[in-house]
Order: sequence, then C-alpha cells, then structure tokens
Amino acid sequence: MRVFRAPGRVNLIGEHTDYNQGLVLPAALDLDCRVTAKPSRWPVLTARSVNLGLERTWPLTSFERHGEWSDYVAGVAVELAKLGVRLPAAELEIRSTVPLGAGLSSSAALEVAVAFALCGLAGATLPPVELALACQRAENDFVGMKCGIMDQFVAVLGRKDHALRIDCRSLDKRPVPLPEECSLVMVNTMVRHELAKSEYNRRRQECEQAAAQLDRSLRDTTLAEAEALPQPLRRRARHVIGENARVEQFISAELDEKGELMYASHASLRGDYEVSCPELDFLVETARGIEGVVGARMTGGGFGGCAVNLVRSAAVPEFSRRIAIAYRQQFALEPQIYACHTADGAGELGN
Ligand code: GLA
Repeated sequence: MRVFRAPGRVNLIGEHTDYNQGLVLPAALDLDCRVTAKPSRWPVLTARSVNLGLERTWPLTSFERHGEWSDYVAGVAVELAKLGVRLPAAELEIRSTVPLGAGLSSSAALEVAVAFALCGLAGATLPPVELALACQRAENDFVGMKCGIMDQFVAVLGRKDHALRIDCRSLDKRPVPLPEECSLVMVNTMVRHELAKSEYNRRRQECEQAAAQLDRSLRDTTLAEAEALPQPLRRRARHVIGENARVEQFISAELDEKGELMYASHASLRGDYEVSCPELDFLVETARGIEGVVGARMTGGGFGGCAVNLVRSAAVPEFSRRIAIAYRQQFALEPQIYACHTADGAGELGN
C-alpha cells in the first residue's frame, strides 16, 4: 500500500490570467488530497471517495464519463495512457481535506494525486511539468472545464513558505517568499453559483476572441490597443492586462502596497471581468475595515468559493471572529475559515 498526496492552492494575485499566457502567483496549501493505492487482482481501476462515500470501477481499456467526481480520475488515467504510461490494475482510496467547490482547487489536487499514484504504481516517471499538463488536459477534455495550467502546476511544483510566480507562457517558475509577519486566511462564502463553469468557459472564449481580433495574445497587448475592442471584450482585456502588471508589482511591493494591489485585483474582477458575486464582495469590503488586514480579494475562478486575506499574524483570531459574525448576520451562513500554512507540491508520503 502506498500513499500519494497533492495540495490545494490559494492564488495570491493573477486571476484569470493563466489561460491568457499571463502571470500568476499561487501557493500550495497544507490542505491536501491523499490517495492510498494498492494493486488490484483484476484488470480494473477502482476509485473510492471516502468524502463522498462513492465508488467507481472501470476496465483498464475504456474509461466511461459519468458527469461527476470520478471523471477527474478517469480523465487522468486516459491522459496518462496517451503518454504511454501502462495503467496499473489498482484500487485507489481518496480522501481530501481541500473543501470542494471552494476555489481552493480540490479538483487539481485530486487529479495530481491520482496521477502520482498511477505513475507510482506503474513505475513511470514523467517530468513534473508534463504531468501537470496531462492533468490540465484531463480537466479540459474529459471533464469539460477549460481551465488554465495554474492549479495543476502549483499542485505539482509548489514550495513551502513560498508562492510560485508562474509565467504561463514559458512555464518558467520562481518561488517568491511569503511576507513573514503575515498569515493567509481563506474565508469560504459557502456558496458556488450555478454559472461558475459556463461563465468560466465563456470568459475564456471572450479572451480568445479579443486576442484573435487584436492578432496577439493579451499578454502582449497594451491598454491603449485594447481600446479598439468592442465591449465586453474591452473590459475583459483591461482586466487581464492590469492583472498581469499587478502580479509583477505585488512581488516587489512593500506590504501595504501588496494589500492595495489585492483590493485593486478584486475590483477589476468584479467590475471588468464580472466573475465576483455579492458574497465575495461583502467579504472583501468587510475585511478591509478590520484591523490587521493587509489585503483581501476573491481567489480562484469566482462566483463563490473563498476570499483570500493577507492578515498580520497577531490579528488572525480577532479577524476570524469579526468576519464570521458579519457574514453570518448578512447571509445567515456560517463561513468556514482556514488559517492555512503553505506546503510543498505533490509527492509520495514516506519518501
Ligand atoms: C480556476 C482555473 C485556473 C484559473 C483560475 C482563475 O481555478 O482552474 O486555471 O484560470 O480559475 O484564475
């Protein structure tokens, strides 16, 4: 029996830029997905989700799609087989502490943990970036979510106590130390609006349309050039261009300025990119008024999920208390709060 893990992630800044060949700054978290893997006596792959209490089995030669959690597992198996990995007959038991649908990338954690388990049992070693790309293709092509590379990349290559600056065009990465005196606190809205997937895919299409009209990637477009686009493409491009610049500024900024950049990122995601929601806006506005908060913004795809808060460590307990009270009063929902540590990327436990 072998155990493999892959972390969830929080993105500090650089949202909806990855599929535009842009810059992102995520960190891997100590919330993770663990896959206990053992060989099976039959020529099948079985996946059991302990969290959901559900199980699926596929013959190793054909992977059916069910429109549910198991598609992430099957999609990864299909992509690995395409890369020449001899799929092992195996039983996978999956447990995750990454909250589902909370914008902390539970799906990439699942994909990457499964990929490590299948490669581990098959005795195959893929270059880390290849493995991340295979997981992204699983999600794009098998699950139908046209996500970028950020989540899978950081789930594989994240580094404890650091965020990872990823250039999503060259796939170059650079660890960036996190501010020492601060903690990352994620506050979960506990909602995930229905349109999350369809609007995500629509934004991606809009960006592709904008790039086609300008005949260049949004990574290489200036604000002045974006003015030529019709709406809503102009607003979408303005977000992406500003957000790429904010990632670079954030890395070199002093602490207070980092916070302002997070608020600016949120405002742009709300106004120009239109992927926020009242629950996230409320959390960010409320955080702004609480002592010790350096900055706050939505994190991940949007339409629900978590806000990420950069909070002076001494102020975390009081921040958590106050934001929970305010949210409960406003929405009659109990927000989950995760004061997380960062972690390394995926691997086998005990190695
Ligand atoms: C989701 C996707 C990522 C990225 C973010 C938005 O998490 O999986 O690829 O596009 O949304 O930044």
